[in-house]
Amino acid sequence: MRARRAALFAFAAFAAACAPVERAPERHPSLAKAFQGQFAVGVAVEPGHLEGLEGRFVAWQFNGLVAENAMKPPALQPQEGRFDFARADRIVEFAARHAMMVRGHTLLWHEETPAWMWQESDGRAASKERVLERLRRHVHEVVGRYRGRVQSWDVVNEVIDASREGCLRADKWLEVAGTDYLDVAFRAAHEADPAARLFINDFHTTQPAKRRCLIAVVRGLLSRGVPVHGIGHQMHVDLVEPKVAEVEEAFAEFATLGLEGQVTEMDMSLVVGVVRHPGSDAQLATVQAERYAELFRVFRSRREISSVTFWGLSDGRTWLDRGARAGRGDRPLLFDADLEPKPAFWRVIPPAAGRAALRAEVVSKSAPSAPALGTP
Ligand code: XIL
Repeated sequence: MRARRAALFAFAAFAAACAPVERAPERHPSLAKAFQGQFAVGVAVEPGHLEGLEGRFVAWQFNGLVAENAMKPPALQPQEGRFDFARADRIVEFAARHAMMVRGHTLLWHEETPAWMWQESDGRAASKERVLERLRRHVHEVVGRYRGRVQSWDVVNEVIDASREGCLRADKWLEVAGTDYLDVAFRAAHEADPAARLFINDFHTTQPAKRRCLIAVVRGLLSRGVPVHGIGHQMHVDLVEPKVAEVEEAFAEFATLGLEGQVTEMDMSLVVGVVRHPGSDAQLATVQAERYAELFRVFRSRREISSVTFWGLSDGRTWLDRGARAGRGDRPLLFDADLEPKPAFWRVIPPAAGRAALRAEVVSKSAPSAPALGTP
């Protein structure tokens, strides 16, 4: 009897040490640990990505989170005065449980401003004063709720247009409120959480004309005493653009502002223009790996870069293969759809962390079995 129980126990231990453990996230080096002391490494998620094995994977690989959509204004205040924090709370609570930083994204974005912002209850167009009052309220409520739990905010997103005199995008915000909306948004965020780091976030920040504009707008804000603490570089790059030298040059130029910098939405599309770059999957993965390595070399060389956030967990979760972009076979991230590290992961990870991974693998052999894959 005793022998039978021992045999059963041995078999159970053996089974636990085999197949499920093969999927244990801890068997690979952690990006967060690999860059400890240099910058935080974050990932954009929906709350449903934080369950099961996927959640465990997120907590192992990253030490920063951003809501891919759950903190955008229409998600948080779908109707005037009706706030819905349930989904955003799940992300912030997960981060707190796992000692992760949170980037708040975003308080103002021309693409996602709820329609009620622009209308009076009788259907007339809302006045500048009304719109600024609503903006102030939104920012106060949202930043106030997450005071001390969200460390940095993209206060405004994609407001720069280098083709325009004055450098600001000709959107509804500029049309209704003039340039005042920028000052109001930053000042309100600072009032609600004086310790939060406040960012102006944009794409193509490395292009010469755009970066000159962004720097000019930020200098203007700073000269008026508006609390801006950092530049957010989205960094949605592709296999060809921007050139690494241009990124280096741009970061050096931004450094003259003396502000913090964060890479906020990193991914690297295989689609250049509108078609997938020529080459086999393996060839493209190699080119991608080299280019990721080069960009990370630049990020590591910059003291002002405090975090690098990926826009999605894996090639199975990327916005670049959804909606109108579905079916293009884009694979822009460091992990494939099965959460396996791609060549780019191994090129980005510093060699010392790779060695630590071998040790982690030995440790993971004795780890408990992995839970099942989470649902979206
Ligand atoms: C994207 C999300 O990834 C999509 O799921 C959503 O449908 C649209 O927005 N720049 C930004 C992000 O600042 O908020 C965008 O996120 C991607 C481009």
